[in-house]
Amino acid sequence: MQLRAFFVFPLAAKPSLWEKAHMTTRRKKIYEGKAKILYEGPEPGTLIQYFKDDATAFNAQKKAILEGKGVINNRISEYVMTKLNSIGVQNHLIRRLNLREQLIREVEIIPLEVVCRNVAAGSLSQRFGLPEGQALPRSIIEFYLKDDKLSDPMVAEEHITAFNWASTQEIDDMMALTLRVNDFLTGLFAGVGITLVDFKVEFGRIYENDFSRVILADEISPDSCRLWDSQTNEKLDKDRFRRDMGDVIEGYTEVARRLGIMKEMPTVIQGGLH
Ligand SMILES: Nc1ncnc2c1ncn2[C@@H]1O[C@H](COP(=O)(O)OP(=O)(O)O)[C@@H](O)[C@H]1O
Ligand SMILES: [Mg+2]
Repeated sequence: MQLRAFFVFPLAAKPSLWEKAHMTTRRKKIYEGKAKILYEGPEPGTLIQYFKDDATAFNAQKKAILEGKGVINNRISEYVMTKLNSIGVQNHLIRRLNLREQLIREVEIIPLEVVCRNVAAGSLSQRFGLPEGQALPRSIIEFYLKDDKLSDPMVAEEHITAFNWASTQEIDDMMALTLRVNDFLTGLFAGVGITLVDFKVEFGRIYENDFSRVILADEISPDSCRLWDSQTNEKLDKDRFRRDMGDVIEGYTEVARRLGIMKEMPTVIQGGLH
């Protein structure tokens, strides 16, 4: 499959002046990260997650603006989170609000990035000298500490429990949930001709009476997954940006198109990609 850069991204993908004014005058910004902004939500315990067009890689040493990325990731993440909710994987999404924003449940983020791998790629390939694309004997889950200053180091369960980042029970819950996400997403993407090579998820705690529970948070999108065309192994994800391959937005758009959600982005000119 060849990606063609025929499509034009909509003006509406950029925040309008009204949107900008609304954002700055009426909302409290809680946090601005590399790819998203969190604003105070309309009710206690809620937040608004705004998807920016900013792309970063290698711990933000490499930066760019990819016009339209936020719109596509907002929609893809909504789609995936909604599907996961329907199979009983609880997550923070309440509903998408507009092109770039979704209403979410506020959680206490567990400071770990949980990575699940099916096929060797990226740092796993480097660390163990495995050729990219080699199927792994089974799915592998890894934990990384979410700390940009330390470049998100890989951590063992021993570190997680000793430093109190999460309890043994929470680790078990995160692993079980991640495997369910993996099983479901592997099938979802396989159905549209895409191999789910690996992905990263984040979890958070919600408190109910005296108990806390772990739910899925953050986003699931081509920023956080490796997605390869099943036939050609062509990359349709953030590696196109990391490796200067070009056509990054075209890759993300292709993922959305195959999932059947491009038609819900009416301002995007259809039919440019096949
Ligand atoms: N439901 C949630 N409640 C609170 N924080 C969240 C929730 N979902 C995601 N987050 C946090 O919001 C931030 C999202 O912005 P992002 O640009 O990804 O930040 P970062 O640069 O820290 O990765 C992340 O730090 C993520 O952990
Ligand atoms: Mg992030």
